[in-house]
Amino acid sequence: MGQGSGEITLRPATLEDLPAIEALLASYRLPSVELDRWIEHVVVAKSDGRLVGCGGLEVYPEDACGLVRSMAAEERLGGLGTRILEWAFGHAHELGLTRLFLFTVGAREFYLRFGFEDATLDDFPPSARASFQYRFVAEHGDEWDIKAMARDLEA
Ligand SMILES: CC(C)(COP(=O)(O)OP(=O)(O)OC[C@H]1O[C@@H](n2cnc3c(N)ncnc32)[C@H](O)[C@@H]1OP(=O)(O)O)[C@@H](O)C(=O)NCCC(=O)NCCS
Repeated sequence: MGQGSGEITLRPATLEDLPAIEALLASYRLPSVELDRWIEHVVVAKSDGRLVGCGGLEVYPEDACGLVRSMAAEERLGGLGTRILEWAFGHAHELGLTRLFLFTVGAREFYLRFGFEDATLDDFPPSARASFQYRFVAEHGDEWDIKAMARDLEA
């Protein structure tokens, strides 16, 4: 479809996408810390050349797990967050991951729809504890009311 169609396309992110991703995440007060390191596991959603969504994984193969992070979607579009999360599930499956974790402040209800359940920091395997998010939550989680969640993936 041509320009102005409003069609939303998903494609793997590159480092060139980082400034726009950081701006989108910042608009939702979400951090971009270390996102460059995980860029090959991030997807971007574009509409008429504009970034309208993103999301991805930190990958911890030692424990066959991933951490869903940097999920953002323009809510008025409807259904985009689902598409991005399903991309992350497919990507995790390709990587052979068997368990996904995440932290959220306002989207717990969204993730409950996709099989995530409440988790505690004790549930995180050793490798995932290296994540800046884990370290931040361990220190400030209560103060910010951050929820941890997890779900298994079919092998
Ligand atoms: C969370 C987010 C990525 C979801 O994307 P989205 O495009 O709004 O999601 P979808 O339209 O696919 O939502 C699917 C369903 O979940 C619901 N939903 C979406 N976000 C929700 C939320 N934060 N809380 C409760 N329900 C939510 C939608 O209303 C929709 O319900 P419906 O099928 O009954 O209409 C998006 O709302 C967002 O960017 N939020 C702000 C940033 C954020 O919190 N990111 C998550 C960081 S962990």
